[in-house]
Amino acid sequence: MNETIRTIMSRYSCRAFVGETPPDEDLRTIAEAALAAPSGSNRQLWRVIVVKDKSLISEMDDEGMRVLAAMPDKSMYERIKGRGGGLFYNAPCMIVIPIAQANPPVAEMFDCAIVAENIALAATSLGVDNLICGLAALPFAGEKGAEFSRRLGFPEGYGIGLGVLLGYAKETGGKPHELDFSKISFVE
Ligand SMILES: Cc1cc2nc3c(=O)[nH]c(=O)nc-3n(C[C@H](O)[C@H](O)[C@H](O)COP(=O)(O)O)c2cc1C
Repeated sequence: MNETIRTIMSRYSCRAFVGETPPDEDLRTIAEAALAAPSGSNRQLWRVIVVKDKSLISEMDDEGMRVLAAMPDKSMYERIKGRGGGLFYNAPCMIVIPIAQANPPVAEMFDCAIVAENIALAATSLGVDNLICGLAALPFAGEKGAEFSRRLGFPEGYGIGLGVLLGYAKETGGKPHELDFSKISFVE
């Protein structure tokens, strides 16, 4: 197994971070790896915003939980409350990936997901634990959404795509999901 395959195979979703922020040098490398992602027609209709402001991340977490609590279906809110109470697991850093708001933004979402995976793999290779976070969209769905977009510097016409949480796991030894080899087939 080469280094790249080892990185892909060892990436896992970290759901409990300690407060320590990864060094700027690593964050810069991770952000640059994000920029290397392929995109449809090389349009790159995304941005890569590295958020190190813990109080802003915490505000976004609280607002996201408020948005979730106000939804008619409370099951996700209850589940998240039950496993520690927050969307962002005490992550000290989040890379926010806003995307151009086409209608519907399908191609942009594909591109955004690839950016997120580049981030996750680059982080894993550097020993930075991570989690791709779709629920990072929640704080932008409430009344403070425009304010967060402004504070994060989203370009005009861009909205949230995904977030990727970065930091160091509270407990080492996190394992990726089991591989289901039955999903592979060859047609020859
Ligand atoms: C697009 C996307 C969005 C996700 N959003 C969340 C999220 O908001 N919260 C969370 O805890 N995990 C989230 N995950 C992580 C998945 O739950 C995780 O990848 C899956 O359970 C497999 O586990 P593994 O990543 O450890 O292999 C997301 C993953 C993807 C690909």
